[in-house]
Amino acid sequence: MFDLDKIPSQKGRISVVTGANSGLGYATTTVLAQKEFKVIMACRNEKKAEKAKAEIIKKIPNADLIIMKLDLTKLSSVRSFAKLFDSTFEKLDLLINNAGIMIPPFSKTEDGFESQMGVNYFSHFLLTGLLLPQLNKGKNARVVCLSSIAHINATIDFDNLNSEKKYSKMTAYGQSKLACLMFAYELQRRLENAGSSVIAVAAHPGVSNTNLGRYLPKIAQIISPLFTPFFTHSPDKAAMPSLNAALGTGVKGGDYYGPTGFRKMKGEPGKSTSNKISHDKKIASKLWKVSEELTDFSFQL
Ligand SMILES: NC(=O)c1ccc[n+]([C@@H]2O[C@H](COP(=O)([O-])OP(=O)(O)OC[C@H]3O[C@@H](n4cnc5c(N)ncnc54)[C@H](OP(=O)(O)O)[C@@H]3O)[C@@H](O)[C@H]2O)c1
Repeated sequence: MFDLDKIPSQKGRISVVTGANSGLGYATTTVLAQKEFKVIMACRNEKKAEKAKAEIIKKIPNADLIIMKLDLTKLSSVRSFAKLFDSTFEKLDLLINNAGIMIPPFSKTEDGFESQMGVNYFSHFLLTGLLLPQLNKGKNARVVCLSSIAHINATIDFDNLNSEKKYSKMTAYGQSKLACLMFAYELQRRLENAGSSVIAVAAHPGVSNTNLGRYLPKIAQIISPLFTPFFTHSPDKAAMPSLNAALGTGVKGGDYYGPTGFRKMKGEPGKSTSNKISHDKKIASKLWKVSEELTDFSFQL
C-alpha cells in the first residue's frame, strides 16, 4: 500500500504540475514541496498561482516553488512554456498533466479544438512531447496523466473529435479523459520501444469537490454538499492516486492508479482498471497520429 510517510526526500529533483493553483494540483504541489521537490507551478492565472504559492509557503517555509505561465487553450503558450523551461532547467524528473476543465459551454481554443479536448488532452499531448528531451535527462523520470471515472462510457469519435458535428458537454469531457488515459498507455508503449527510462503512468482521483464543478447546474452546486460526503473525498485524499503514480515504489509504466473504496470514488489509492477501448492499440495509435497532425508536432519516439 502507498505510504507517503515512507517516501524519502526528493531534493534535487524537478517537477512540473499543470493547474497547480487549485484542487488536486494544489494538493499535489503541497506534497511534492513537502518532499523537497522543486515544483514548477504551470498555471494560466498568475494572481491565483501567487496566492496558492503563498499559502503553501505558509505551511512549508522552505518550499521550492516557481510559477510559470501556461495557458492550455493556446498551443503557442504550451510552446513558450516548454521553450522557457528548456532554457532555464537542465532536466525534468516528473511531469504531472493535471489541469483540466469539465462540462463548460461550447467554445473553441485558439487552435480550433473543442475546449475540453484542447485543454485536457491536446495541450498536454504537446507539452509532454516538447518536454520529453528534458524528461530523458531526468532520473527515473515519470509522466502522470489525469483521467477520470468519466472515461468509462466514453469512446474516441474520430468523426466528431472536436465536436464539429454536435456538442454534448459530458460526452466531450468523457472523451477528453479517455484520450488522456490512452495517451498514457500509448506513450508508455512507445517509450519502452525506444528504450527510454522514462515511464508514463495514469491516475484518476475518484470524486472530489473542487472548482472543477464550476459549470455544474446551480441546483446541483447547492444540494451536492448534502450528499457528497457519501461518495467524495477531500482534494488532499483525491490527490493520492496521482502521488502514488508519481512517487510510489513498484510503480510500472502503463499502470493506472485510483481510489480503491466505494465505486472507485473515494478511498486509499491503489491499482485501478480502465475500460476496454482504453486498451485498444489501434485506436490509440490512430489518436496519436491525429494528435501529431492537429498539434503540428512529431514526438521523438
Ligand atoms: N475533482 C474531481 O472529482 C475529478 C474527478 C475526475 C478527474 N478529475 C481531474 O483532475 C484534474 C484536476 O481537477 P480539479 O478537480 O483539481 O479541478 P480544479 O480545482 O478546477 O483545478 C483545475 C486546474 O486546472 C487549471 N486550468 C483550467 N484551464 C486551464 C488552462 N486553460 N490552462 C492552464 N490551466 C488550466 C485551473 O486553473 P484556474 O484555477 O485558473 O481555473 C486549475 O488550476 C482534472 O484533469 C480533472 O479532469 C477531477
